[in-house]
Amino acid sequence: MKSTISTPYFLVDETRLVQNLEILRQVADQAGCKILLAQKAFSMFSCYPLLRRYLAGSTASGLYEARLGKEHFGGETHVFSPAYKPEEFQELLNYADHFVFNSPRQLQKFGPAAKAAGKAVGLRVNPECSTQEGHAIYDPCAPGSRLGTTLANFDERLLPLLDGLHFHTLCEQNSDDLETTVAAFEEKFGRYLHGLKWINLGGGHHITRKDYDRERLVRIVKHLKDTYQVEVYLEPGEAVVLNAGFLVTSVLETLHNGMDIAILDTSAACHMPDVLEMPYRPPLKNSGESGEKAYTYRLGGPTCLAGDVIGDYSFDATLNEGDRLVFEDMALYTMVKTNTFNGMPLPAIVWRDANGQEKLVKAFGYEDFKNRLS
Ligand SMILES: Cc1ncc(COP(=O)(O)O)c(C=O)c1O
Repeated sequence: MKSTISTPYFLVDETRLVQNLEILRQVADQAGCKILLAQKAFSMFSCYPLLRRYLAGSTASGLYEARLGKEHFGGETHVFSPAYKPEEFQELLNYADHFVFNSPRQLQKFGPAAKAAGKAVGLRVNPECSTQEGHAIYDPCAPGSRLGTTLANFDERLLPLLDGLHFHTLCEQNSDDLETTVAAFEEKFGRYLHGLKWINLGGGHHITRKDYDRERLVRIVKHLKDTYQVEVYLEPGEAVVLNAGFLVTSVLETLHNGMDIAILDTSAACHMPDVLEMPYRPPLKNSGESGEKAYTYRLGGPTCLAGDVIGDYSFDATLNEGDRLVFEDMALYTMVKTNTFNGMPLPAIVWRDANGQEKLVKAFGYEDFKNRLS
């Protein structure tokens, strides 16, 4: 049955989400580690109670995410920021229980206050081991990176302040790259991990992807636990909601300029900026590559940006005004990144429960656009 909810909207599917969560819980159980939701990828807090049944807590990039995690997720609340704001730090102590610092200076500046408040304190290290090609903006190990403390900058005198170490170097990667990274980490920082309580392996583990080698991940985690007697954390974002969400949109208009073009009521620039930033071509239900099916269209948004193009897709039939199109894998890094450039309305948020019932969780309007301006 065709949904009556107005487009555009993000649709998150409980059944698919639970499939991912079951996998993550199994990994956590088998490896004996704790898995946290990286809220930067997905902050749909109305489903946090469900996520909490499977995950140990959440991790935040600063004050607001930490507060959301504490108030809506529960469990452990971790936070990492490249630099904390002095006037916010006191408030942050109300929300987070694990604080990860980016540099010895930050650790010196804020670590003692965190410790005095009974918090766990960690340092993000940079193993200087790039395992990804093609997405330089997602490589924290690239030369000149501001993320994480390199061995040359590590200050052993600060060890008494530390409970744990953290690294985050991966992006949509398999466990072979984690293995490579862990070897580099151990060579550089392993000796400091002895005597600490935990190691956090960051995110970027595509654990719920079909070809992900979970047995290897379990082996790596067990190796770290056995060698250093530490607790191990993983903090994936993408893997939690991989393929669990959609963006439903309508065709507003079609035209021809050397090729067929369709203007949709969703925008790459406003609703799925990673399509332009990364860049990538999001999967679209019942469509083919350009030229694969009978009718190829360039799909774009209704903004003024010439490059607001989602991609070229082909269909079995012509597209017409009012047709609904469903982009797939749209739960991650979308809702958290939307903007109202050009006064674009924000997509609504819809939940499809395990019985297939769709429920409008939140709709946005003119006030949401206006309230961000003055
Ligand atoms: C420190 C840290 N942890 C976790 C994540 C989550 O990564 P992903 O969503 O790729 O799993 C990120 C993503 O940038 C990150 O920077």
